[in-house]
Amino acid sequence: MDDNLDKVAYEVRQCTKCILHLYRKNAVPGEGNPNAKIMFIGEAPGYNEDIQGRPFVGAAGKLLTQLIEEILNLKRNEVFITNIVKCRPPENRDPKEEEITACSQYLDRQIILIKPKIIVTLGRHSTSYILNKAGINFKGITSIRGKIIKVKLFNLNFTLIPTYHPAAVLYNPQLKEELIEDFKKIKEEYYKERKGLERFF
Ligand code: URA
Ligand code: SF4
Repeated sequence: MDDNLDKVAYEVRQCTKCILHLYRKNAVPGEGNPNAKIMFIGEAPGYNEDIQGRPFVGAAGKLLTQLIEEILNLKRNEVFITNIVKCRPPENRDPKEEEITACSQYLDRQIILIKPKIIVTLGRHSTSYILNKAGINFKGITSIRGKIIKVKLFNLNFTLIPTYHPAAVLYNPQLKEELIEDFKKIKEEYYKERKGLERFF
């Protein structure tokens, strides 16, 4: 049977492939427009996301939503928002390598189904995952954030724009200017992409 986003979400909610399933209230598959041009990939659900089963609904989510609405001029439901790991790690610890490995097939399938033109990775975990998969060396989030990177992966061509994780910016407000700068670049790329598409109509 053909794969689809509901099937991925259903499998995520049943999943026991890693130890994180033991701690979760709710798995968080991700949400948004199945035809989104932009996909945001965070790290893992936190406390509020685990309770609601929805991505980026806590403090970091509030900041992300504000950037999407106020800088990109888009609504949350026009983009797709997900995480590299779909269940909350205890005490919000970093996801372990084996958890990322166990979970990544869900993210891969979401990317293949949505075919986004732009992927924004939030923080080092999702950034290093996508870069490594594309065969590009990852040397840390500080040196790569805000870069426009053309990636070919899963037979798809997309633009990768890594940036800081919004939670890191809440923790360290000096990073906010750079996060805003990166969102302005995302906006430029997005409207370039839209112009390119409009020429066909
Ligand atoms: N942080 C993340 O990485 N993802 C969420 O969904 C919420 C907070
Ligand atoms: Fe399954 Fe991913 Fe949840 Fe682990 S984190 S149980 S692999 S859905």
